[in-house]
Amino acid sequence: MASLIEEIRALGTQALADIRAAASLEQIEQVRVAVMGRKSRLTQLMRELGALSEDERRKAGMVLNEVKDAVADELKKRRAALEAAARAREIAGQSVDITLPGRARLFGRRHPLVQVRRQIEEIFISMGFSIALGPEIENDFHNFAALNFPDEHPARDMQDTFYLPGGWLLRTHTSPVQIRAMLATTPPLAVIAPGRVYRADADVTHSPQFHQVEGLLVDRRVTLGDLKGVLEAFAHRMFGAQYQTRFRPSFFPFTEPSAEMDIGCVICSGVGCRVCGGTGWLEILGAGMVHPAVFENVGYDPEKWTGFAFGMGIERIAMLKYGINDIRLFFENDKRFLEQF
Ligand code: PHE
Repeated sequence: MASLIEEIRALGTQALADIRAAASLEQIEQVRVAVMGRKSRLTQLMRELGALSEDERRKAGMVLNEVKDAVADELKKRRAALEAAARAREIAGQSVDITLPGRARLFGRRHPLVQVRRQIEEIFISMGFSIALGPEIENDFHNFAALNFPDEHPARDMQDTFYLPGGWLLRTHTSPVQIRAMLATTPPLAVIAPGRVYRADADVTHSPQFHQVEGLLVDRRVTLGDLKGVLEAFAHRMFGAQYQTRFRPSFFPFTEPSAEMDIGCVICSGVGCRVCGGTGWLEILGAGMVHPAVFENVGYDPEKWTGFAFGMGIERIAMLKYGINDIRLFFENDKRFLEQF
């Protein structure tokens, strides 16, 4: 009897040592089966208790239960510890290394001509102009006749204008949108019209397709002073207030008087260089007071209404602003060029 109890205690001590030595969840399961499983010595001893006298069975049973509880307890503790360790290892393996350099993402950007167009639009919108659009395929009336071009005007020549079958043509400027805007509404009005225009011309500063922004303001008692004020404010916001502006007399069939506006050369600051041809000035747009004949062509009373108009090339503005010397760069879509804006 004493030896039975000793065996039980020895089994217990050994089991606890085995459990503590188990280094993984698989090992702890093996130990559990070996110690508590149906074929284990402990289970076998349980069965043998039945053969003992009642007193002996009670004493041995007590020890056996004590040992079983202790073993079950230890199994639970060891399993929990091993599970926690396994989980900690898993988390450590998954952890994010925040010192790893990120993967650079390539961002697209707006084409420089779109950027400049939007900038021009924003400046005039802030002054109360709204945007008007017209078709790129036009007829003689909107592109020339209504704008007071005489029949024999050289701009109508095949060498400048792309003609299409059926009397159509590719608009040579955005000025036909002046006519369309005036025909569509009654004065007062103030619009700008950005868009593509076409001329049979190609070299470093001319492209057969390019972009213009037209401006038109019609109201009562509009003066040349209003035109100068609006365009000077535009030039200062577009290029910087440090640049001077000047108006030179010029000619357009649809404005009278007509002018061209220059700004102090952005390359040499007015000293004189190759870009400004030694003059210290750069031409940036054409403008003038709306010709009475144009008002008559759209049914506006020239005695009642006055107005000014202007037109500028977006490529030219962009070339001066960024110091670009070849207009073709805008249309080749070389990423090394486009990425600089
Ligand atoms: N349409 C003219 C051009 O293309 C520019 C312009 C527009 C001039 C409006 C005066 C008024 O050269």
